[in-house]
Amino acid sequence: MQVADRLQKIPPYLFVTLRNKIAKARAEGVDVINLGVGDPVDPTPQSVIDELCRQAQDPINHQYPIDEEKGMLAFRQEVAKWYARRYGVELQPEGEVLGLIGSKEGCHHFILGVVNPGDVVLMTDPGYPAYRASIYMGTAEPYHMPMLAQKNYFPDFDQIPPAILKRAKAMFLNYPNNPTGACATRAFFSRAVEFARAHDIAVCHDNPYSEILFDGQEALSFLSVPGAKDVGIELNSLSKPYNMTGWRLGMAVGNKQILAALCKVKENTDSGIFNAIQYAGIQALKLEDRNIPKMMEIYVRRRNLVLETFSKIGLPFTPQKGTFYLWIPVPRGKNSIDFTTALFEKAAVVVAAGTAYGQHGEGYIRISLTVPDRRLEEAMERIRKVF
Ligand SMILES: Cc1ncc(COP(=O)(O)O)c(C=O)c1O
Repeated sequence: MQVADRLQKIPPYLFVTLRNKIAKARAEGVDVINLGVGDPVDPTPQSVIDELCRQAQDPINHQYPIDEEKGMLAFRQEVAKWYARRYGVELQPEGEVLGLIGSKEGCHHFILGVVNPGDVVLMTDPGYPAYRASIYMGTAEPYHMPMLAQKNYFPDFDQIPPAILKRAKAMFLNYPNNPTGACATRAFFSRAVEFARAHDIAVCHDNPYSEILFDGQEALSFLSVPGAKDVGIELNSLSKPYNMTGWRLGMAVGNKQILAALCKVKENTDSGIFNAIQYAGIQALKLEDRNIPKMMEIYVRRRNLVLETFSKIGLPFTPQKGTFYLWIPVPRGKNSIDFTTALFEKAAVVVAAGTAYGQHGEGYIRISLTVPDRRLEEAMERIRKVF
């Protein structure tokens, strides 16, 4: 049976490889603690669950979703209000907002909507691996822009060769950033708008961690800088601010032309999101801003515990201010894989190797704070004992 060539270019998804490794160790009786995956274990707010149950009882909602590929108007209106309230960004629910099955879906359909075979798509290295996979599935070519600590984790657009710029048609950016935790500034976003305009590049700013911020960091949308709507869209999601990763609900906002292309792809692919989930999403956006500070209290506590532990074992580091990931430099003389392997073999703690996010992730590991307190405490205790 033939398998598509484009799939051959995509390495196995990071978390599938991790899952297999963990399953094998667990089958051998090892109590593995997995700090490799960013998937909140804390529950979705009760009001959201109640609304889902209520709406699921109504047979009207058992039919194809209202406004299918666009997302229902009531959901799009609530997204527009949320963007105005939290980021000061004005959006028209008709044309400037789409419902998504999570922001990951948006990344993929953005590519199918804007690139042609052989085009180049710019992405950062390290970066979220799904961007690269979507670029390959769109039969385009990724160009990796290094994202380095010494450059405050901003790509240097001036370093991109002219031959690449000529072929570049789209670009993924992502702040607060997975895996580094770095946050953007308005100045950087303005520079990105200017760059995209000069080279006619469609921008997809992926912002699912917009609310996971520490140390007084300001919540920022790409669309809050002048001109952003002319060059790009932003993806966001209910996964992280409301502990709703399993619900698969997100949104794309911004440039009408790009959104119309994305919508055309969706119209012919997925037929939209279950109405009851969209109603529950409205509830989250409308009522559950109050969940965010409560959730952040938990992450602050867990983050402090990891900082304290790494300090105690002689590996102090200064964390970035966004996401529920910590991007931690490995000990001198070790590389990402060495340190990841040592943590697994000596402490049965799984972390993600920095190189899983690209070659410029070398020298780092990523720890996720989305595990129960008790398990994180146990993991940190094991690490303190063996290092
Ligand atoms: C940068 C980034 N974008 C998108 C996603 C996917 O989020 P969603 O659940 O909204 O599809 C993730 C999930 O980890 C992510 O880290």
